[in-house]
Amino acid sequence: MAEGQMHPNDTAEPTTTPARRQQPVIAIDGPAGAGKSTMAAHLARRFGFLNLETGAMYRAHALKAIDHDLGFDEEQTLLDLAAHTRITLQPQLEGNRVLLDGVDVSRRVRDKDVTVAASQISIHPHLRSWMVAQQRKLGEKGGVVMEGRDIGTAVFPDAEVKIFLDADPEVRGNRRYRQGPPDAPVTEAAIIKELKERDARDRNRAESPLRPADDAVILDSTGMTLEEVLTAAEQIVHSHLASTSNPTQAPVTGTNP
Ligand code: DC
Repeated sequence: MAEGQMHPNDTAEPTTTPARRQQPVIAIDGPAGAGKSTMAAHLARRFGFLNLETGAMYRAHALKAIDHDLGFDEEQTLLDLAAHTRITLQPQLEGNRVLLDGVDVSRRVRDKDVTVAASQISIHPHLRSWMVAQQRKLGEKGGVVMEGRDIGTAVFPDAEVKIFLDADPEVRGNRRYRQGPPDAPVTEAAIIKELKERDARDRNRAESPLRPADDAVILDSTGMTLEEVLTAAEQIVHSHLASTSNPTQAPVTGTNP
């Protein structure tokens, strides 16, 4: 179980170093709807690592703010709330189970109001610092595939493998539309519009905006099938593992606990 309890004194410094890790950190960043969670779950299964969806932490905190009727632009109030918040990520084969103060909110955090709120609260620098500190603790021993927006740039700038997964917003929107329930009362155009709005907030925020790390491998999946994307990601990880002599980093076939 990966648990993050936030305290006001937590800071994002110092970072861990690869020397302290026995296994690598694989960082996957990219815009909403690019397929990061699918890729993270696949790589975690393939290499026997834990997959951690950092967006779920922002979503869980946004849900708590909604439940407490807080404004999403009130950073200090959100920080005060954070001091009494316990967010737990439980890696599963296909994604993360999310507990908020011990309650399973895995489905609720995917609702539209929480999705929009998570994007809005994630612009606040101090709240981000707390999240980053928790995420570093969760991944400090390595052996994790961590996905989000700032893993390769802010959470683990020293990650052994960095993948930036991108795709045109129209393609991402179309994939999301086709994945949704057929009777869902939402149009493809509305999904694309919402993705573009989240992209703009994620890319333009002052603190840790969404961007590829200088040393990330950029994978644009616009014209690729899911299978091609997953194969490419596996090859990227394989070539890192093959280039390291540390036997603990040898690939293994396994599943998440
Ligand atoms: O990956 P996701 O859609 O579950 O993320 C929800 C929101 O959280 C997203 O709009 C931006 C924010 N987020 C972030 O700012 N940094 C991260 N590392 C992960 C998510």
